[in-house]
Amino acid sequence: MKKFHLSAVLMMAAAIGAFTACKQGSSQSVQTTISKDSLVKRGNYLVTTMGCNDCHSPKVMTPMGPALDTTRLLSGHRSDMSLPPANNEALKNGWALFYAEGTAMVSPMGTSYAANITSDATGIGNWSLQQFKTALTRGKSKGIETNRDLLPPMPWENYKQLSEEDITAIFTYLQSTKPVKNIVPEPQLATR
Ligand code: HEC
Repeated sequence: MKKFHLSAVLMMAAAIGAFTACKQGSSQSVQTTISKDSLVKRGNYLVTTMGCNDCHSPKVMTPMGPALDTTRLLSGHRSDMSLPPANNEALKNGWALFYAEGTAMVSPMGTSYAANITSDATGIGNWSLQQFKTALTRGKSKGIETNRDLLPPMPWENYKQLSEEDITAIFTYLQSTKPVKNIVPEPQLATR
């Protein structure tokens, strides 16, 4: 009888062990959610410190100069704002001119507008991670290999060596941003 008790106890212990293992298995999916959160955090950190807002976020003017327009972060050059005429004399002398919001640049090469990189469909909401990687590290418009090269001042050459982890973190963060609908104008290349 004693022996039977012992083996029953052992069986119970095994069952408890299996149950715990099962629980551990299910806690793995919890871990994936946590790691998505940490990807978003890391992505936010990278986007902030790598200066994406400098060009991709509209600004509001303050007595201290331009400040981020927090209502439309990362939504690119505003579609409802046409640029004032640029100083042609300065351009002829080799100057590149930044619009004060930082979202547009006029240079002897033409005019370029910072893209909408929010999670909206007019931004990168429908992009795949692969597309994002191709845009960021190979400088291809919309992340499609056969598309045109991205124009200055998008500093994609600086991002060539980003690790897979960092690209994934930036992408995951951008996909978690507030969607802002904004269709950025097409660039105008200088005809010379
Ligand atoms: C100095 C300005 C500047 C900085 C800094 C910058 N960008 Fe850009 N970016 C641009 C401009 C301008 C374009 C549009 C170029 C064009 O249309 O050819 C662009 C284009 C892009 C595109 C391609 C969008 C499309 O529709 O094809 C992506 C993606 C992008 N930037 C992501 C980023 C990320 C992420 C960061 C920060 C890690 C960043 N950019 C930093 C100016 C900048």
